Amino acid sequence: MSDKSSSQSKPSKGIPEFKAPLLDHAWTHMPKGIRQTVSSEPTIPAIAAQAKVIAAQNPDFIRSDQGQVVGILPDNEVYYGPSSGLEELRELVGRFWTYAYRLKNKPGISPQGLDKKNVAIVSGATEGLSIVMHLFAFQKNVGLMPLYWSNYKGIILNAGGNPVVIKFFNEDYKIDFKNVERIIKKNKITSLLINFPNNPSGDVLTDEELQQLAALARRLNLIIISDEVYNFIRYKGEPQSMLSFAPERTVVISSASKEYLIPGARVGYVIAAEEMFTNSWMPKLIRSFSSSPNVLGQRILLDILKDEVRDLEEGRSPRIITEIKEELKIRCDLIISILQEKGFELAGRDRDFPSGAISVLARLPQDIKLDDKAFVEKALELKKFSAVPASVFGAPGCIRFGYAGMTQETIMKFSKNLQDVLDSIRKKR
Ligand SMILES: Cc1ncc(COP(=O)(O)O)c(C=O)c1O
Repeated sequence: MSDKSSSQSKPSKGIPEFKAPLLDHAWTHMPKGIRQTVSSEPTIPAIAAQAKVIAAQNPDFIRSDQGQVVGILPDNEVYYGPSSGLEELRELVGRFWTYAYRLKNKPGISPQGLDKKNVAIVSGATEGLSIVMHLFAFQKNVGLMPLYWSNYKGIILNAGGNPVVIKFFNEDYKIDFKNVERIIKKNKITSLLINFPNNPSGDVLTDEELQQLAALARRLNLIIISDEVYNFIRYKGEPQSMLSFAPERTVVISSASKEYLIPGARVGYVIAAEEMFTNSWMPKLIRSFSSSPNVLGQRILLDILKDEVRDLEEGRSPRIITEIKEELKIRCDLIISILQEKGFELAGRDRDFPSGAISVLARLPQDIKLDDKAFVEKALELKKFSAVPASVFGAPGCIRFGYAGMTQETIMKFSKNLQDVLDSIRKKR
């Protein structure tokens, strides 16, 4: 059965009706030009796909469809890859997701879990978010969960949408679902962009909250774009994906940037239970956004993921990411004890230790009467350290300290440099 026939019914007057909320929503909200792109059947990729198969079986077959120079410096040639990424990698990402987030036999997902058709490789999560926003955000209000990665607003605006930060949490840092629903209705919000474990705080949403969010999305016909770039970097509890809770209306965006330490390789993934989204629409969109993701970066990840997926399938913790997590936890512990000793308080939901990700969010000590931007400027001016003023994430008065980019030794040195900055600010009063 083709992708189309499984998800689309009763085409009338050229307007398809989709059974799946994800496709229906995207189709209804995407601009006309994008509709044309996703409905097109581009000739070149179709010929290339056919030629690749024929060439593999017929040694005398000659390919003259390719737009690249070959045979001059053979050792330096890097071929274009398929628009939605190397098939083998897509398959591995699908299996990683299936085992890591227990997606077999979940309603709304195929009983075997996800495979390559559920995955499109993109040039980092950033490109994934950008393309997906072009489908859901155009002339719409997109709800952002606080705290939010500072790039989200630009990505939504570029896609012609309008970011609306929703006050998600009450004083006790619990999700106030009544208020969230009220704001969504008032602002006619049609999709939500959530992120857990969260940048900057490392916060996660509980299973119960994810369940309630899924119910809310169904009730209000929302699409959830779930940024899960740090999903396996968890220090507490079992990792979950939003796909487990609302597969029919979730698009997951993730990447190897953080979990496998290769942001420069630019390998991200867009994952959805609906194959037509990832296997048909995404390749056409990627082709017109960036042609294809980085082939060299994908090869690096392929080598890593083969072993990681084998570990998962055989019931072990994936070795590489587990090692990464253990080291990050030590660094996180170190920096937290330094920050607390100097009067900073953790400012996320977890007041003792973040649930995951690679940075901590800390509130400036009460006697430091500078705002977060001025504090970071001071640290830079004194040439002691850099950090990010968390007003850019929607948390004024707080600082994001990224501990992943510092070794344990550097974190120990950071303690003295931080003290020097605090002393200098206090002396000036
Ligand atoms: C929450 C979040 N999403 C997405 C990204 C971008 O990831 P990538 O390097 O894969 O584009 C970042 C990078 O900092 C991030 O923190």
